[in-house]
Amino acid sequence: MPHQTVVILDFGGQYNQLIARRVREQGVYCEVKPHTTPVADLKALAPIGIIFTGGPGSVYDPAAPHADPEIFQLGVPVLGICYGCQLLAHHLGGKVAAAQSDSAREYGKTETAFDTDCKLFRGLPAKSVTWMSHGDYMEKVPEGFRLTARSAACPNVAIADEARGFYGVQFHPEVNHTEQGAAMLRNFLYEICGASGDWTMEDYKETAVRRLRETIGDGKVLLALSGGVDSSVAAALLAEAVGPQLTCVFVDHGLMRLNEGDEVESVFSQRDIRFIRVNAEDRFLSKLSGVTEPEGKRKIIGEEFIRVFEAEAKQIGRVDYLAQGTIYPDVIESGAGDAAVIKSHHNVGGLPDYVDFKEIVEPLRMLFKDEVRQLGRELGLPEYLVSRQPFPGPGLAIRCIGEVTKEKLDLLRRADFIFRDEIAKAGLAGTMDQYFAVLTNLRSVGVMGDGRTYDYALALRSVTTSDFMTADWTRIPYEVLDRVSVRVVNEAPHINRVLYDITSKPPATIEYE
Ligand code: XMP
Repeated sequence: MPHQTVVILDFGGQYNQLIARRVREQGVYCEVKPHTTPVADLKALAPIGIIFTGGPGSVYDPAAPHADPEIFQLGVPVLGICYGCQLLAHHLGGKVAAAQSDSAREYGKTETAFDTDCKLFRGLPAKSVTWMSHGDYMEKVPEGFRLTARSAACPNVAIADEARGFYGVQFHPEVNHTEQGAAMLRNFLYEICGASGDWTMEDYKETAVRRLRETIGDGKVLLALSGGVDSSVAAALLAEAVGPQLTCVFVDHGLMRLNEGDEVESVFSQRDIRFIRVNAEDRFLSKLSGVTEPEGKRKIIGEEFIRVFEAEAKQIGRVDYLAQGTIYPDVIESGAGDAAVIKSHHNVGGLPDYVDFKEIVEPLRMLFKDEVRQLGRELGLPEYLVSRQPFPGPGLAIRCIGEVTKEKLDLLRRADFIFRDEIAKAGLAGTMDQYFAVLTNLRSVGVMGDGRTYDYALALRSVTTSDFMTADWTRIPYEVLDRVSVRVVNEAPHINRVLYDITSKPPATIEYE
């Protein structure tokens, strides 16, 4: 049965996929379409509602992207966001102008008052914070519209023509800074468009599988599996879509956490795909031998990964598609511009030169991390794989300060496992975003039994963060830290001291190297 569909018309805003994700979150199917999509094509989708996104343009600029005015004749509710709101005003007889410095150019969190009679704001507080980012404002509101929200600087933060189902907001309801944003979008979908919430992640899976089958046909697909959430979910999705045509190459670089390599193998060797595990620990460790500098380690691991993968791919021969587990935040970050490189993330590492393929498929490109996890569950992946915390491509090599050796890695693996085990037993796992142990290069004197020891100090690190760009250290209860410490010095030989890291990011980073 076809689902109710919302069309998101893209005017080049930076949050367009976030709008899509917010709509999906409310159980409504949506498609992001370029603003140039012909009205006939939109009509063919029989949308229950249309959302105009924000965008960098100014509607009065001759080169600005526009909507086909026929859209307003479809009898379908429209919500315009930021630029989309101005576009609505512009097309329906209002006037948009550049904000003068004393009027309504607004940026950031803004206290806003709402008319809660308006369906968009019904049931919500009369005042709340919205997030603005606009330099234009509506000088004249179009005929038939009334003003439904205002801020101190701007009398027309939102407009509505409820009879025709047209709504416009100057702020961004899709970002978290807009306190009631999700509820407003829900009102638009359920109160205004008449959504019934007939869409689920299971549907997403089925659509994705169908599309992959259409794209790939009887072609051969190759995927580099890292064991992380993204590539694992991509592998499971492709397995479901084109199983026997899929080869997954899992390069085990020997820098994973305890049992991780075996876990990945046990999950994927059971599926109807060709699964190849390359045990490359020796290769990686010999390349890393004597290397102490963090960026040097990253570079070596990134390059070696590609070399190992290439060697495998050569044996497989020509494939039609190279699959990647790229997710939406990667798409954004790779275009991130000239921010200073603090650490080069070498797990991405570029494409192998010698793999012979026609095209790339990236089935998770439109999804956010938590959606990827949800899709993984839908595909029957075990919870320990799906809810795995972020783990850097270079693995434990950058958590083993100084030179990386097999002995140090084994020691770290054991200690790291104890830490994670105690966190799980204390029921804290879901409350921390990333936590791990680091084997420092510090050795210090201790006493054990009657003897002197001169052994390593282990650092425990745990952070609470939403974006990993900034992070706070987690307030782990002392009793839990105590249990970890006691177990580590008892069960992990050559560690005689356990430290807990209480620095946030910035000034520290999350990883030590
Ligand atoms: P930092 O240490 O820069 O870490 O505060 C931020 C996030 O990025 C992860 N990280 C990496 N991920 N390759 C990766 O794939 C890397 O080289 C790398 N270095 C750091 C880190 O685990 C944290 O989640």
